Amino acid sequence: MKLLIIANWKMNPQSLVGARWLFNSIKKGVKNVRNVEVVICPPFVYLQEMRDKKQTARVKLGGQDCFWEEKGAFTGEISPFQLKNLGCQYVIIGHSERRKYFSEPGTMINKKIKAALAIKLKPIFCVGENRGERRKGETKKIIRFQIRGGLKNISQKDLKNLILAYEPVWAIGSGNPCHPLQAKEVFSFLRRFLKRNPILYGGSVNSQNALSYIKAAGFQGLLVGGASLDPKEFIKIVKNTARY
Ligand code: PGA
Repeated sequence: MKLLIIANWKMNPQSLVGARWLFNSIKKGVKNVRNVEVVICPPFVYLQEMRDKKQTARVKLGGQDCFWEEKGAFTGEISPFQLKNLGCQYVIIGHSERRKYFSEPGTMINKKIKAALAIKLKPIFCVGENRGERRKGETKKIIRFQIRGGLKNISQKDLKNLILAYEPVWAIGSGNPCHPLQAKEVFSFLRRFLKRNPILYGGSVNSQNALSYIKAAGFQGLLVGGASLDPKEFIKIVKNTARY
C-alpha cells in the first residue's frame, strides 16, 4: 500500500494566483516520487482550476468537507457529487475545526461519511482529543465516542474505502506535535476498530518529524496543514517519507 500524504490548505491561499503557484510548485516537486500518493485539498473555489481532466496526474484532489445530500436547497453547501464531478477522489470529514466552529456532531459526520462512501469518494475521517481531554486521561474514551458516532451503521464492507486520521486537537497548528510514541499508542487503539484501513497522523507535521510517525509509530500517512502551504517544506515531507 502506498503511503498517503494529504495537504489540507484550509482557507488558504487568498487568491487564485497564489493557489495556482502553490499547486504547480508542489506538482513539479513531487513529479518523480513513486511510492507516495499525494493529495491536495484546496478550498472548493480552486478545485476547477486544479482539476486534471485526464485523471492521470500524480497529485490527486480532495475536498475539505462535503454535505450529505446529492443536490437541492442547501445554501452554501457542496455535495459529494459536485466534488466527484470536479475530479476529487477524497474528502476530509469531521475535521476538528468543523467540529469546533460549526459544532458538527457525530450524527452529521456519519451522514457525510455515508454519502461520500456511496459514490466512492474516499472519506478522510478525523478524530482526536483536545488538551483538556488528554490531561484528564480521556483520549481513548473520546476517540471511541467519535468513531462510534462517525461510523454508525456502516458495514465493514462499505468501510473499505475509508481513511482514518488521528489528529490530536492540541497538536494542530500549535507547533507542538504529538510525540510519535504517544501517537503510536493511539494508533494501536484505532487499529482495534479498523483492521486494514490506512490510518494517518496529523498535527504540526513538518519535514523533520514526518518520517517518525511512519517509522516509529506505524501510520500509513500524514495529514499536513500549515506545512503544506510552503511548497519546499511540503515537498521535503513527501520526499522524506518516500524514502521509507
Ligand atoms: P497543522 O494542521 O499541520 O497545521 O497542525 C493539520 C490539520 O489540521 O489537518
